[in-house]
Amino acid sequence: MNQKGDYIGVFDSGVGGISVLRHLRKLLPNERFLYYGDSANAPYGRRTTAQVQELTLAAAERMMKYGLKALVVACNTATAAAIQALRQTYGNLIVIGIEPALKPAVDQFPGGRIGVMATQVTLREEKFDSLLHRYENAATIAKIPAPGLVELVEAGKADTAEAEALLTDILSPWAGKLDALVLGCTHYPFAVRVIRQLLGPRLVLIDGGEGTARETKRRLEQAGLLHDGPGEILWQNSAENDEILALCQTLLNQ
Ligand code: DGL
Repeated sequence: MNQKGDYIGVFDSGVGGISVLRHLRKLLPNERFLYYGDSANAPYGRRTTAQVQELTLAAAERMMKYGLKALVVACNTATAAAIQALRQTYGNLIVIGIEPALKPAVDQFPGGRIGVMATQVTLREEKFDSLLHRYENAATIAKIPAPGLVELVEAGKADTAEAEALLTDILSPWAGKLDALVLGCTHYPFAVRVIRQLLGPRLVLIDGGEGTARETKRRLEQAGLLHDGPGEILWQNSAENDEILALCQTLLNQ
């Protein structure tokens, strides 16, 4: 099933993909974006693979009705579980996924100590396993699941004492033991102040948002599908309430 259109669809389980949308907007200011967050069903990171696939395909179907020329899966969890199914369903559409930015971390710290913070689904999927195998001899890599953090970002509480308490439990064992921390979930860049406070200002934090935006631009350019303005963002969210749309704006402008 294919349907050509003007929008670049940006999808996440909730508001996390806005950390990717910020890079996309910077790089492609003249594009029309349709941001769809499935906050009513977040977090995806604790679900079964089959559930994540089903929810992702249903969201993509909703988004396709607006007419998409590309779909950016701005969710590491949905990419890990469902990117193949999406590509099979929408054969001619440009479909770009995000994955934990392990390569830039290893390039920067060969032989170093690298943590990958991500959801349980991302860390247990085969896609992540093969990424890990590719780099496991090039650095010491630790998986760091962070259950509970997505829920706090969804509630607009990424920068609160509650987030500090949760992240203290998760990250204090790693203090002083890492050269770089890969933020392998698009919700986590909204918690960087607390993460830095716990792990120190010198730790290098790496996320895949910028690389995903660059890849999107490259693919659109290659296909001759760039739009030349005016730029726009159309917001859609399965939670359908004013609070979530207000949070989207706050996070976009942060
Ligand atoms: N933002 C998503 C990611 O990048 C996951 C959030 C969730 O668990 O729903 O992995």
